[in-house]
Amino acid sequence: MEHTYDFGLVGLGVMGRNFILNVADNGFKAFGNDLDTEKVNALIEEGGDTNRVNASTDLNTFVNALVRPRKIMLLVPAGKVVDIVIESLLPHLDHDDIIIDGGNSFFTDTDRREAYLQEKGIHFFGAGVSGGAKGARFGPSIMPGGNRDAYQHVKPIFEAVAAKSHGEPCVAYLGPKSAGNYVKMVHNGIEYGLMQLTSEIYDLLKKGGDFSNELLHQTYAKWNSGRLQSFLVEITAEIFEQKDDLSDGNLIDMILDKAKQKGTGKWTSQNAMDLGIPVPSIDIAVSMREISALKEERIKADALYNRPEVTLMNKATLGGLAEKSLFFSFIITYAQGLHQLSDASKEYGYELELAEIAKIWRAGCIIRAGLLGDIMQAFQEDSSLTNLLLSPRFVEKIQDTVDAARELVSYAAQNGIPVPGLSNSLTYFDSYTSSRLPLNLIQAQRDYFGSHTYERIDREGTFHTEW
Ligand code: 6PG
Repeated sequence: MEHTYDFGLVGLGVMGRNFILNVADNGFKAFGNDLDTEKVNALIEEGGDTNRVNASTDLNTFVNALVRPRKIMLLVPAGKVVDIVIESLLPHLDHDDIIIDGGNSFFTDTDRREAYLQEKGIHFFGAGVSGGAKGARFGPSIMPGGNRDAYQHVKPIFEAVAAKSHGEPCVAYLGPKSAGNYVKMVHNGIEYGLMQLTSEIYDLLKKGGDFSNELLHQTYAKWNSGRLQSFLVEITAEIFEQKDDLSDGNLIDMILDKAKQKGTGKWTSQNAMDLGIPVPSIDIAVSMREISALKEERIKADALYNRPEVTLMNKATLGGLAEKSLFFSFIITYAQGLHQLSDASKEYGYELELAEIAKIWRAGCIIRAGLLGDIMQAFQEDSSLTNLLLSPRFVEKIQDTVDAARELVSYAAQNGIPVPGLSNSLTYFDSYTSSRLPLNLIQAQRDYFGSHTYERIDREGTFHTEW
């Protein structure tokens, strides 16, 4: 058994078990490790043939089973556990062995671990894995970052197990150090934005058009066969159909409106602030999860204030505006996330290729969408593109949909239906495309009260006025 298994995986939870079975299905011999005997036995049983998939709770057995350089992936909870597992593996490893963290680790943790392990001659990869349990089992999108040469050892396995789009694997070497974790973090920020927008549109259709669950199902399903085709729209259509086991109604109506979060959306927003890149469609999605959590306060506040009576809109008209608005705001959300990646690439030396990132997001991951094909082409046409809104490819798509977004935002405002994602996307668009903004007044105010100086439009230099 010694040194015969191609791939090792620590952490046989749902993601780990599915991922390792995927590796084995693709012709690689895989060995798992977990402290939990039940999980180890469950994997051995599910694997069927221990020559193909084997596992042990014993670290020594695990490490000795692997071909050198060892390729060991960790699918354990992000945070301290990753460090603990690394420390426990270290005494058993040899020079040039490879550890891959497949969790949603914070990117600076990955940088720290990579530098620490490099000193010991071990290669460390932070690899974002998207697609949930199903993705892990049948094809995720994988976003690895780390040492380019060492990636060659991992590449054949990752390319085999990754989702395929147009026959190409949804995995690519993204860059050094924490590039992979960073890209996955922003993927999740975009995921938050798209989810918020999808849910706002649902609210509008329900409150403003009296759409039944059946009609919501049909509407989202129809959208999914058009330009809005995406995993999130697809599952949303299915969600509206789901009957509840515990009542007579549909499950969606029985789910409490308090959204949880594990932090990756918040990290995206926080880091965008640090970089100075505006991502308001993502920021508001994080804020909305926070507002949603204040359920008790919301109930009290609801009783204190009047809300306008909703004037119902014709279903067909509302449906048409909603489709356009969702498409518009999806583009804006991708544009913001990719803008952040473009800037982070320079700031952290990742040398990201945005076309490549759009390409590997086309299948397997949560934000996969037909739109990503166009996004990929926009960055292929101009690799120095920072913001999708500057790509000629997107001008027509935006022109065709922005007026619907204006109409829907004003309808929502007049009727007291909150659409913060949509309105933030619209105001972001209006601001980003304004050659002149009123921030000259802010500069004047800053100079007035704090002598902070200002620049002028007609000559070079820095000026101060005694106001
Ligand atoms: C993915 C997801 C996944 C994430 C969940 C939950 O790409 O498969 O992004 O990594 O953990 O979506 O995230 P929240 O709990 O923060 O909503």
